[in-house]
Amino acid sequence: MDGGLGALRERVQAAQRIVVLTGAGMSAESGIPTFRDTLTGLWSRFDPMQLASEAGFRAHPQRVWNWYAERRLGVRAAQPNPGHLALGGFAQRHPGRLTVVTQNVDDLHQRAGNPDTIRLHGDILEDRWLDPCPRRCGSACDTKGAAPGEPPRCRDCSNLVRPGVVWFGEDLPLGALSAAEAAADRAELMLVVGTSGAVWPAAGLAARARRAGAWVAIVNPDETEIDGDAHQLVRGTAARVLPGLLSDATA
Ligand code: OAD
Repeated sequence: MDGGLGALRERVQAAQRIVVLTGAGMSAESGIPTFRDTLTGLWSRFDPMQLASEAGFRAHPQRVWNWYAERRLGVRAAQPNPGHLALGGFAQRHPGRLTVVTQNVDDLHQRAGNPDTIRLHGDILEDRWLDPCPRRCGSACDTKGAAPGEPPRCRDCSNLVRPGVVWFGEDLPLGALSAAEAAADRAELMLVVGTSGAVWPAAGLAARARRAGAWVAIVNPDETEIDGDAHQLVRGTAARVLPGLLSDATA
């Protein structure tokens, strides 16, 4: 471990309130593609406005539903990588010291031992109604008659089911955003792992934590849009850097 990483590890060991903000790069080594990596990112192959916006879904519900169905299969088949396990292991060994805030819609942090992960962009494995129910069926909306493979529709009111993720132009879940901001305000140390820092308001959490007094370190193999908000840049991948950084073993 080089000097910078060794010093960061000492900060991890000393800090009582650590926030880890993660993005798609966190799950890349579990085989889940990122969004903006030049060759492999989803947004280099697909148009986000067609696949990740309400207008795109209303225009082509079947196309969007199929795309998410395929991504759901990928998430279900994926396993937490050593980076997720390092965060989960630390949280289990040191209850109350580490909060994960993620932009990821997979459940790999939860499966790796961080059940209280704050999810800013929703949950790809959940469904929710597209519209408020016009006939007030509410949670009693009934999809039993839905054709296999098609976006389920309520038998009574025709409401469509959509994936429970935040799409472009939509607000973040308020409770999750306020919990993330409160954690950033209290943090002594923030690790920003595997995000390009291109999407707000998540990208603003690093600067917010720094303003509130936290030491901010970015773990990423490449440059990010928020490198200027960090005290320290660690050029490496989540699965390679986090296990050493979060281990309790003495060097
Ligand atoms: P991006 O695809 O924008 O960025 C992924 C980042 O991960 C890049 O900075 C890569 O350099 C880095 N990276 C790649 N492999 C890595 C690895 N093995 N370890 C560490 N870092 C690695 O993904 P996000 O920043 O998460 O929105 O994107 C933010 C949001 O944009 C996503 O949540 C998604 C997307 O549209 C929603 O789903 C609502």
